[in-house]
Amino acid sequence: MTDNSANIIKFPEDFLWGVSASHFQIEGYPTEVERRLSDWSRWTEEEGRILDGSNADRACEFHKRYLDDIELIGELNLKAYRTSLNWAALMPEGPGTVSRERQFAPGVVEYYRDLFSRLKERGIKVFVTLFHFCLPDWLAEEGGWTSPRVADEFETFADLARQHFGDLVDYWMTVNEPMAYIYQGYVAGNWPPGASQDYLGAFVAIRSMLTAHARAYHALKGGEDAVQVSFANHWRPFAPERKWSPLDLMVTHYRERVFNHIFPESIDEGALNIPAPLSGRKEFRALEGEIPGLKKSMDFLAVNYYTRELSRFDLSWPPDLFGTRSKRADYPVNGLGWEAYPEGFYRVLTSDINPYLIDSKGHNRPVFVTENGFATLFSPDLSAGDWSISDRERCDYLISHLVVLKKAIEAGVNIKGYLHWSLTDNFEWSEGLTPRFGLVRVSYEDQARKLRESAELYSKIAAANALETIDR
Ligand code: BGC
Repeated sequence: MTDNSANIIKFPEDFLWGVSASHFQIEGYPTEVERRLSDWSRWTEEEGRILDGSNADRACEFHKRYLDDIELIGELNLKAYRTSLNWAALMPEGPGTVSRERQFAPGVVEYYRDLFSRLKERGIKVFVTLFHFCLPDWLAEEGGWTSPRVADEFETFADLARQHFGDLVDYWMTVNEPMAYIYQGYVAGNWPPGASQDYLGAFVAIRSMLTAHARAYHALKGGEDAVQVSFANHWRPFAPERKWSPLDLMVTHYRERVFNHIFPESIDEGALNIPAPLSGRKEFRALEGEIPGLKKSMDFLAVNYYTRELSRFDLSWPPDLFGTRSKRADYPVNGLGWEAYPEGFYRVLTSDINPYLIDSKGHNRPVFVTENGFATLFSPDLSAGDWSISDRERCDYLISHLVVLKKAIEAGVNIKGYLHWSLTDNFEWSEGLTPRFGLVRVSYEDQARKLRESAELYSKIAAANALETIDR
Protein backbone atom coordinates (compact mmCIF):
# COMPACT_ATOMS: atom_id res chain seq x y z
CA MET A 1 0.00 0.00 0.00
CA THR A 2 1.29 3.48 -0.83
CA ASP A 3 0.37 6.63 1.00
CA ASN A 4 0.66 8.86 -2.10
CA SER A 5 -2.09 11.43 -2.21
CA ALA A 6 -3.06 13.71 -5.08
CA ASN A 7 -3.18 17.48 -4.75
CA ILE A 8 -5.06 19.61 -7.22
CA ILE A 9 -3.60 23.06 -7.73
CA LYS A 10 -6.17 25.36 -9.36
CA PHE A 11 -5.17 28.47 -11.32
CA PRO A 12 -7.21 31.68 -11.48
CA GLU A 13 -10.18 31.58 -13.82
CA ASP A 14 -8.85 33.86 -16.53
CA PHE A 15 -5.29 32.47 -16.45
CA LEU A 16 -3.71 32.28 -19.92
CA TRP A 17 -1.77 29.19 -20.99
CA GLY A 18 0.44 29.50 -24.03
CA VAL A 19 3.71 28.97 -25.83
CA SER A 20 6.47 31.29 -26.92
CA ALA A 21 8.88 31.41 -29.88
CA SER A 22 10.79 33.87 -32.04
CA HIS A 23 10.76 34.23 -35.81
CA PHE A 24 14.38 33.37 -36.66
CA GLN A 25 14.43 30.28 -34.49
CA ILE A 26 11.50 28.67 -36.31
CA GLU A 27 10.63 30.38 -39.60
CA GLY A 28 13.20 29.64 -42.30
CA TYR A 29 11.82 32.70 -44.09
CA PRO A 30 12.66 32.25 -47.80
CA THR A 31 13.81 35.76 -48.79
CA GLU A 32 15.76 36.19 -45.59
CA VAL A 33 17.63 32.95 -46.19
CA GLU A 34 18.17 33.39 -49.96
CA ARG A 35 19.36 36.97 -49.72
CA ARG A 36 20.95 36.77 -46.24
CA LEU A 37 18.90 39.73 -45.14
CA SER A 38 19.72 39.63 -41.43
CA ASP A 39 22.88 39.70 -39.34
CA TRP A 40 21.99 36.28 -37.91
CA SER A 41 21.47 34.63 -41.30
CA ARG A 42 24.96 35.88 -42.25
CA TRP A 43 26.44 34.91 -38.89
CA THR A 44 25.40 31.27 -39.34
CA GLU A 45 27.43 31.16 -42.58
CA GLU A 46 30.66 32.04 -40.79
CA GLU A 47 32.98 29.19 -39.93
CA GLY A 48 32.84 28.05 -36.31
CA ARG A 49 30.04 30.37 -35.14
CA ILE A 50 27.46 27.62 -34.50
CA LEU A 51 28.53 24.89 -32.14
CA ASP A 52 27.01 21.93 -34.00
CA GLY A 53 27.65 23.42 -37.47
CA SER A 54 23.92 23.73 -38.20
CA ASN A 55 22.02 26.84 -39.34
CA ALA A 56 18.48 28.20 -39.31
CA ASP A 57 17.94 28.09 -43.08
CA ARG A 58 15.07 25.66 -42.68
CA ALA A 59 14.68 25.66 -38.89
CA CYS A 60 11.11 24.36 -38.35
CA GLU A 61 9.87 25.71 -41.71
CA PHE A 62 7.24 27.52 -39.70
CA HIS A 63 6.76 29.90 -42.60
CA LYS A 64 5.39 26.98 -44.66
CA ARG A 65 3.88 24.96 -41.86
CA TYR A 66 2.25 27.50 -39.60
CA LEU A 67 -1.25 26.25 -40.32
CA ASP A 68 -0.26 22.84 -38.95
CA ASP A 69 1.46 24.40 -35.96
CA ILE A 70 -1.65 26.45 -35.18
CA GLU A 71 -3.56 23.15 -35.19
CA LEU A 72 -1.07 21.86 -32.61
CA ILE A 73 -1.57 24.94 -30.43
CA GLY A 74 -5.31 24.27 -30.56
CA GLU A 75 -4.83 20.57 -29.83
CA LEU A 76 -2.85 21.49 -26.73
CA ASN A 77 -5.73 23.69 -25.49
CA LEU A 78 -3.55 26.79 -25.46
CA LYS A 79 -4.88 30.31 -25.62
CA ALA A 80 -1.73 32.43 -26.06
CA TYR A 81 1.02 32.49 -28.67
CA ARG A 82 4.12 34.65 -28.71
CA THR A 83 6.44 35.22 -31.63
CA SER A 84 8.51 38.05 -33.12
CA LEU A 85 8.42 39.96 -36.38
CA ASN A 86 11.08 39.39 -39.01
CA TRP A 87 12.38 42.97 -39.20
CA ALA A 88 14.92 42.06 -41.92
CA ALA A 89 12.31 40.50 -44.22
CA LEU A 90 9.76 43.26 -43.52
CA MET A 91 12.31 46.03 -44.19
CA PRO A 92 14.93 44.51 -46.47
CA GLU A 93 16.29 47.92 -47.41
CA GLY A 94 17.53 50.86 -45.42
CA PRO A 95 16.38 54.43 -45.95
CA GLY A 96 19.13 55.14 -48.54
CA THR A 97 19.92 58.69 -49.52
CA VAL A 98 16.73 59.53 -51.42
CA SER A 99 13.89 60.48 -49.16
CA ARG A 100 10.92 58.18 -49.78
CA GLU A 101 8.15 56.72 -47.73
CA ARG A 102 9.26 53.67 -45.75
CA GLN A 103 7.12 50.57 -46.18
CA PHE A 104 6.93 46.94 -45.21
CA ALA A 105 7.53 44.34 -47.95
CA PRO A 106 4.05 43.22 -49.09
CA GLY A 107 4.26 39.36 -49.04
CA VAL A 108 5.65 39.40 -45.53
CA VAL A 109 2.79 41.55 -44.26
CA GLU A 110 0.25 39.08 -45.65
CA TYR A 111 2.00 36.16 -43.99
CA TYR A 112 1.93 37.76 -40.54
CA ARG A 113 -1.63 39.01 -40.99
CA ASP A 114 -2.74 35.52 -41.91
CA LEU A 115 -0.88 33.98 -38.96
CA PHE A 116 -2.26 36.45 -36.41
CA SER A 117 -5.82 36.35 -37.82
CA ARG A 118 -5.94 32.57 -37.67
CA LEU A 119 -4.72 32.60 -34.08
CA LYS A 120 -7.35 35.17 -33.19
CA GLU A 121 -10.11 33.19 -34.91
CA ARG A 122 -9.32 30.40 -32.47
CA GLY A 123 -9.48 32.72 -29.50
CA ILE A 124 -5.70 32.69 -29.04
CA LYS A 125 -4.13 35.87 -27.66
CA VAL A 126 -1.31 37.21 -29.80
CA PHE A 127 1.93 38.41 -28.17
CA VAL A 128 4.39 40.04 -30.57
CA THR A 129 8.02 41.06 -30.03
CA LEU A 130 9.62 43.56 -32.40
CA PHE A 131 13.29 42.76 -31.78
CA HIS A 132 14.22 39.21 -30.86
CA PHE A 133 18.00 39.33 -31.45
CA CYS A 134 18.00 39.82 -35.27
CA LEU A 135 18.79 43.02 -37.15
CA PRO A 136 18.33 43.79 -40.82
CA ASP A 137 21.77 43.37 -42.33
CA TRP A 138 21.91 46.96 -43.64
CA LEU A 139 21.44 48.23 -40.10
CA ALA A 140 23.96 45.80 -38.61
CA GLU A 141 26.47 47.03 -41.19
CA GLU A 142 25.99 50.57 -39.91
CA GLY A 143 26.81 49.49 -36.36
CA GLY A 144 23.49 47.97 -35.24
CA TRP A 145 22.64 49.02 -31.69
CA THR A 146 25.56 51.43 -31.57
CA SER A 147 24.51 53.20 -34.79
CA PRO A 148 23.25 56.76 -34.09
CA ARG A 149 20.27 56.01 -36.36
CA VAL A 150 19.04 52.83 -34.72
CA ALA A 151 16.37 54.48 -32.55
CA ASP A 152 14.89 56.32 -35.57
CA GLU A 153 14.81 53.10 -37.52
CA PHE A 154 13.25 51.17 -34.66
CA GLU A 155 10.56 53.82 -34.26
CA THR A 156 9.72 53.61 -37.97
CA PHE A 157 9.56 49.82 -37.69
CA ALA A 158 7.24 50.07 -34.67
CA ASP A 159 5.01 52.63 -36.35
CA LEU A 160 4.57 50.42 -39.44
CA ALA A 161 4.00 47.38 -37.20
CA ARG A 162 1.12 49.20 -35.48
CA GLN A 163 -0.39 50.26 -38.83
CA HIS A 164 -0.25 46.75 -40.31
CA PHE A 165 -0.86 44.50 -37.32
CA GLY A 166 -2.21 46.67 -34.52
CA ASP A 167 -5.75 45.32 -34.93
CA LEU A 168 -4.54 41.75 -34.41
CA VAL A 169 -1.98 42.04 -31.60
CA ASP A 170 -2.98 41.80 -27.92
CA TYR A 171 0.38 42.39 -26.25
CA TRP A 172 3.41 44.06 -27.77
CA MET A 173 6.99 43.67 -26.62
CA THR A 174 9.55 46.06 -28.04
CA VAL A 175 12.73 44.09 -27.30
CA ASN A 176 13.41 40.62 -26.00
CA GLU A 177 15.96 40.15 -23.20
CA PRO A 178 18.10 43.18 -23.95
CA MET A 179 20.81 42.20 -21.48
CA ALA A 180 21.09 38.61 -22.73
CA TYR A 181 21.60 40.02 -26.22
CA ILE A 182 24.06 42.68 -25.13
CA TYR A 183 26.03 40.25 -23.01
CA GLN A 184 26.33 37.71 -25.84
CA GLY A 185 27.05 40.31 -28.53
CA TYR A 186 29.39 42.73 -26.71
CA VAL A 187 30.93 40.82 -23.82
CA ALA A 188 30.99 37.09 -24.62
CA GLY A 189 31.31 37.54 -28.40
CA ASN A 190 29.08 34.54 -29.15
CA TRP A 191 26.44 36.41 -31.14
CA PRO A 192 26.53 39.28 -33.64
CA PRO A 193 28.15 41.78 -33.60
CA GLY A 194 30.72 39.43 -32.01
CA ALA A 195 32.54 41.93 -29.79
CA SER A 196 34.19 40.69 -26.66
CA GLN A 197 34.72 42.44 -23.30
CA ASP A 198 33.56 45.66 -24.97
CA TYR A 199 31.83 47.23 -21.95
CA LEU A 200 31.70 50.69 -23.48
CA GLY A 201 30.06 49.29 -26.64
CA ALA A 202 27.68 47.39 -24.36
CA PHE A 203 26.59 50.55 -22.52
CA VAL A 204 26.25 52.54 -25.76
CA ALA A 205 23.96 49.73 -26.97
CA ILE A 206 22.03 49.77 -23.67
CA ARG A 207 21.42 53.50 -23.97
CA SER A 208 20.26 53.29 -27.58
CA MET A 209 18.06 50.28 -26.86
CA LEU A 210 16.37 52.18 -24.05
CA THR A 211 15.90 55.18 -26.36
CA ALA A 212 14.55 52.90 -29.09
CA HIS A 213 12.25 51.17 -26.62
CA ALA A 214 10.81 54.50 -25.47
CA ARG A 215 10.16 55.68 -29.03
CA ALA A 216 8.69 52.33 -30.09
CA TYR A 217 6.49 52.23 -26.96
CA HIS A 218 4.77 55.44 -28.01
CA ALA A 219 4.69 54.51 -31.72
CA LEU A 220 2.99 51.19 -30.91
CA LYS A 221 0.43 52.86 -28.69
CA GLY A 222 -0.38 55.44 -31.36
CA GLY A 223 -2.06 57.59 -28.72
CA GLU A 224 -4.30 54.75 -27.49
CA ASP A 225 -3.85 54.23 -23.79
CA ALA A 226 -5.39 50.76 -23.89
CA VAL A 227 -2.72 49.30 -26.20
CA GLN A 228 -0.47 47.08 -24.06
CA VAL A 229 3.27 47.48 -24.57
CA SER A 230 6.28 46.26 -22.60
CA PHE A 231 9.59 44.45 -23.12
CA ALA A 232 10.69 40.97 -22.02
CA ASN A 233 13.30 40.83 -19.29
CA HIS A 234 15.45 37.77 -18.69
CA TRP A 235 15.56 37.24 -14.90
CA ARG A 236 18.42 35.18 -13.57
CA PRO A 237 18.99 35.20 -9.82
CA PHE A 238 22.72 35.35 -9.15
CA ALA A 239 24.56 33.81 -6.20
CA PRO A 240 28.25 33.77 -5.30
CA GLU A 241 30.10 30.54 -6.06
CA ARG A 242 32.01 30.90 -2.76
CA LYS A 243 29.74 32.45 -0.16
CA TRP A 244 32.72 33.47 1.97
CA SER A 245 34.50 35.32 -0.82
CA PRO A 246 34.03 39.11 -0.82
CA LEU A 247 35.20 39.17 -4.44
CA ASP A 248 32.59 36.63 -5.53
CA LEU A 249 30.01 38.64 -3.60
CA MET A 250 31.09 41.80 -5.39
CA VAL A 251 30.80 40.34 -8.90
CA THR A 252 27.48 38.75 -7.97
CA HIS A 253 26.22 42.18 -6.98
CA TYR A 254 27.31 43.73 -10.30
CA ARG A 255 25.88 40.96 -12.41
CA GLU A 256 22.59 41.11 -10.52
CA ARG A 257 22.36 44.88 -10.71
CA VAL A 258 23.23 45.22 -14.39
CA PHE A 259 21.86 42.02 -15.92
CA ASN A 260 18.54 41.88 -14.06
CA HIS A 261 17.75 45.43 -13.12
CA ILE A 262 19.26 47.98 -15.48
CA PHE A 263 16.39 47.83 -17.99
CA PRO A 264 13.31 47.76 -15.74
CA GLU A 265 14.89 50.28 -13.39
CA SER A 266 15.81 52.73 -16.17
CA ILE A 267 12.31 52.42 -17.61
CA ASP A 268 10.64 53.01 -14.26
CA GLU A 269 12.84 56.01 -13.55
CA GLY A 270 13.01 57.39 -17.09
CA ALA A 271 16.79 57.63 -17.01
CA LEU A 272 19.91 55.49 -17.31
CA ASN A 273 22.17 55.29 -14.25
CA ILE A 274 25.43 53.41 -14.59
CA PRO A 275 26.79 51.78 -11.43
CA ALA A 276 30.09 52.84 -9.86
CA PRO A 277 32.96 52.40 -10.53
CA LEU A 278 32.12 52.43 -14.28
CA SER A 279 30.23 55.69 -13.83
CA GLY A 280 33.51 57.23 -12.65
CA ARG A 281 34.79 57.11 -16.21
CA LYS A 282 33.73 60.03 -18.34
CA GLU A 283 32.88 58.06 -21.50
CA PHE A 284 30.43 56.00 -19.41
CA ARG A 285 29.12 59.01 -17.48
CA ALA A 286 28.27 60.65 -20.81
CA LEU A 287 25.74 57.90 -21.42
CA GLU A 288 23.82 58.50 -18.19
CA GLY A 289 20.77 60.66 -17.72
CA GLU A 290 17.18 61.14 -18.75
CA ILE A 291 15.78 59.54 -21.89
CA PRO A 292 12.75 61.28 -23.41
CA GLY A 293 9.52 59.27 -23.25
CA LEU A 294 11.10 56.44 -21.26
CA LYS A 295 9.59 56.96 -17.83
CA LYS A 296 7.08 54.21 -16.94
CA SER A 297 6.91 52.94 -20.54
CA MET A 298 6.00 49.44 -19.38
CA ASP A 299 2.33 48.42 -19.17
CA PHE A 300 2.89 44.86 -17.99
CA LEU A 301 5.85 42.81 -16.81
CA ALA A 302 7.09 40.13 -19.21
CA VAL A 303 9.25 37.70 -17.23
CA ASN A 304 11.56 35.15 -18.87
CA TYR A 305 13.07 32.69 -16.42
CA TYR A 306 15.14 29.53 -16.91
CA THR A 307 17.74 29.18 -14.18
CA ARG A 308 19.94 30.86 -11.59
CA GLU A 309 23.62 31.56 -12.02
CA LEU A 310 26.62 31.13 -9.71
CA SER A 311 29.22 33.83 -10.23
CA ARG A 312 32.91 33.94 -9.43
CA PHE A 313 35.67 36.49 -9.54
CA ASP A 314 38.62 35.39 -11.64
CA LEU A 315 42.15 36.55 -11.10
CA SER A 316 42.97 38.26 -14.38
CA TRP A 317 44.45 41.53 -15.57
CA PRO A 318 42.75 43.92 -16.00
CA PRO A 319 40.35 42.65 -13.30
CA ASP A 320 36.83 42.01 -14.56
CA LEU A 321 34.26 43.67 -12.38
CA PHE A 322 31.54 41.39 -13.66
CA GLY A 323 33.44 38.17 -13.05
CA THR A 324 32.46 34.97 -14.84
CA ARG A 325 29.85 32.27 -14.68
CA SER A 326 30.85 29.39 -12.44
CA LYS A 327 30.79 25.88 -13.90
CA ARG A 328 29.62 24.39 -10.61
CA ALA A 329 26.08 23.05 -10.34
CA ASP A 330 24.31 22.21 -7.08
CA TYR A 331 21.04 21.04 -8.64
CA PRO A 332 20.11 18.79 -11.57
CA VAL A 333 21.01 20.46 -14.87
CA ASN A 334 19.47 20.55 -18.35
CA GLY A 335 21.37 19.69 -21.55
CA LEU A 336 22.96 23.13 -21.58
CA GLY A 337 24.22 22.79 -18.00
CA TRP A 338 21.53 25.09 -16.55
CA GLU A 339 20.33 24.14 -13.10
CA ALA A 340 16.63 23.38 -12.69
CA TYR A 341 15.98 25.75 -9.82
CA PRO A 342 12.30 26.56 -9.17
CA GLU A 343 13.25 28.40 -5.95
CA GLY A 344 14.85 31.01 -8.19
CA PHE A 345 11.60 31.39 -10.14
CA TYR A 346 9.77 31.98 -6.88
CA ARG A 347 12.37 34.53 -5.81
CA VAL A 348 12.03 36.38 -9.13
CA LEU A 349 8.23 36.44 -9.00
CA THR A 350 7.88 37.43 -5.38
CA SER A 351 10.90 39.57 -4.70
CA ASP A 352 13.12 40.55 -7.67
CA ILE A 353 10.27 42.07 -9.68
CA ASN A 354 8.79 43.79 -6.62
CA PRO A 355 10.16 47.27 -7.33
CA TYR A 356 8.38 47.25 -10.71
CA LEU A 357 4.92 46.01 -9.81
CA ILE A 358 3.19 49.38 -9.68
CA ASP A 359 2.62 51.51 -12.79
CA SER A 360 2.43 55.30 -13.14
CA LYS A 361 -1.27 55.35 -12.17
CA GLY A 362 -0.68 53.37 -9.01
CA HIS A 363 -2.14 50.18 -10.51
CA ASN A 364 -0.66 46.71 -10.26
CA ARG A 365 1.08 45.84 -13.49
CA PRO A 366 -0.11 42.48 -14.83
CA VAL A 367 2.70 39.92 -14.95
CA PHE A 368 3.11 37.37 -17.75
CA VAL A 369 5.72 34.67 -17.75
CA THR A 370 6.72 34.97 -21.40
CA GLU A 371 9.41 32.22 -21.39
CA ASN A 372 10.32 29.23 -19.23
CA GLY A 373 11.54 25.88 -20.46
CA PHE A 374 13.98 23.01 -20.40
CA ALA A 375 16.56 21.83 -22.98
CA THR A 376 17.67 18.30 -23.81
CA LEU A 377 20.33 17.50 -26.43
CA PHE A 378 19.65 15.41 -29.54
CA SER A 379 21.48 15.49 -32.84
CA PRO A 380 19.73 17.44 -35.64
CA ASP A 381 20.19 14.41 -37.94
CA LEU A 382 17.78 12.16 -36.06
CA SER A 383 14.53 11.43 -37.86
CA ALA A 384 11.96 8.68 -37.25
CA GLY A 385 12.04 6.56 -34.08
CA ASP A 386 11.21 6.85 -30.42
CA TRP A 387 13.97 9.19 -29.36
CA SER A 388 13.16 12.01 -26.96
CA ILE A 389 9.40 11.44 -26.76
CA SER A 390 9.56 10.40 -23.16
CA ASP A 391 10.82 13.61 -21.52
CA ARG A 392 10.31 13.10 -17.81
CA GLU A 393 12.86 15.82 -16.93
CA ARG A 394 10.95 18.46 -18.88
CA CYS A 395 7.71 17.33 -17.21
CA ASP A 396 9.33 17.63 -13.77
CA TYR A 397 10.71 21.07 -14.64
CA LEU A 398 7.28 22.20 -15.83
CA ILE A 399 5.47 20.92 -12.76
CA SER A 400 7.97 22.27 -10.24
CA HIS A 401 7.91 25.72 -11.85
CA LEU A 402 4.12 25.84 -12.04
CA VAL A 403 3.87 24.87 -8.38
CA VAL A 404 5.92 27.89 -7.32
CA LEU A 405 4.15 30.12 -9.83
CA LYS A 406 0.88 29.28 -8.10
CA LYS A 407 2.48 30.02 -4.72
CA ALA A 408 3.51 33.42 -6.06
CA ILE A 409 -0.10 34.07 -7.11
CA GLU A 410 -1.19 33.12 -3.59
CA ALA A 411 1.40 35.52 -2.23
CA GLY A 412 -0.47 38.28 -4.10
CA VAL A 413 1.48 38.67 -7.37
CA ASN A 414 -0.81 39.54 -10.26
CA ILE A 415 0.34 36.78 -12.65
CA LYS A 416 -1.98 36.54 -15.64
CA GLY A 417 -0.41 33.88 -17.80
CA TYR A 418 2.38 31.44 -18.52
CA LEU A 419 3.92 30.92 -21.96
CA HIS A 420 6.20 27.91 -22.17
CA TRP A 421 9.34 28.02 -24.29
CA SER A 422 8.64 26.45 -26.72
CA LEU A 423 5.93 24.78 -28.81
CA THR A 424 8.44 22.96 -31.03
CA ASP A 425 12.17 22.33 -30.98
CA ASN A 426 13.96 25.18 -32.73
CA PHE A 427 17.26 26.87 -33.57
CA GLU A 428 19.03 27.69 -30.30
CA TRP A 429 21.32 30.49 -31.55
CA SER A 430 25.04 29.74 -31.24
CA GLU A 431 24.22 26.27 -29.90
CA GLY A 432 22.47 25.32 -33.15
CA LEU A 433 19.68 22.79 -33.60
CA THR A 434 20.95 20.27 -31.03
CA PRO A 435 19.33 21.73 -27.87
CA ARG A 436 15.66 20.80 -27.86
CA PHE A 437 13.24 23.01 -25.97
CA GLY A 438 10.04 21.78 -27.62
CA LEU A 439 6.95 20.29 -26.08
CA VAL A 440 6.70 18.95 -29.60
CA ARG A 441 9.68 17.16 -31.14
CA VAL A 442 10.84 18.18 -34.61
CA SER A 443 12.77 15.76 -36.83
CA TYR A 444 14.56 18.32 -38.94
CA GLU A 445 15.14 16.03 -41.92
CA ASP A 446 11.46 15.44 -42.72
CA GLN A 447 10.10 18.22 -40.47
CA ALA A 448 7.74 15.77 -38.75
CA ARG A 449 6.21 16.99 -35.49
CA LYS A 450 5.54 14.53 -32.67
CA LEU A 451 4.04 15.35 -29.27
CA ARG A 452 6.32 14.62 -26.32
CA GLU A 453 4.95 13.48 -22.97
CA SER A 454 5.40 17.04 -21.75
CA ALA A 455 3.01 18.23 -24.48
CA GLU A 456 0.36 15.78 -23.28
CA LEU A 457 0.91 16.91 -19.72
CA TYR A 458 0.79 20.61 -20.61
CA SER A 459 -2.34 20.14 -22.66
CA LYS A 460 -4.08 18.51 -19.67
CA ILE A 461 -2.98 21.30 -17.36
CA ALA A 462 -4.28 23.93 -19.79
CA ALA A 463 -7.59 22.14 -20.32
CA ALA A 464 -8.19 21.69 -16.57
CA ASN A 465 -6.63 25.04 -15.66
CA ALA A 466 -5.16 22.97 -12.87
CA LEU A 467 -2.22 20.82 -12.02
CA GLU A 468 -2.26 17.51 -10.24
CA THR A 469 0.74 16.74 -8.04
CA ILE A 470 1.43 13.68 -5.97
CA ASP A 471 2.83 14.00 -2.44
CA ARG A 472 5.33 11.24 -1.92
C1 BGC B 1 15.62 33.56 -25.57
C2 BGC B 1 15.28 32.50 -26.59
C3 BGC B 1 16.10 31.27 -26.32
C4 BGC B 1 15.76 30.76 -24.94
C5 BGC B 1 16.51 29.50 -24.53
C6 BGC B 1 15.84 33.05 -24.19
O1 BGC B 1 17.01 33.60 -23.67
O2 BGC B 1 14.69 34.60 -25.62
O3 BGC B 1 15.47 33.02 -27.86
O4 BGC B 1 15.92 30.28 -27.29
O5 BGC B 1 16.02 31.72 -23.99
O6 BGC B 1 17.86 29.77 -24.44
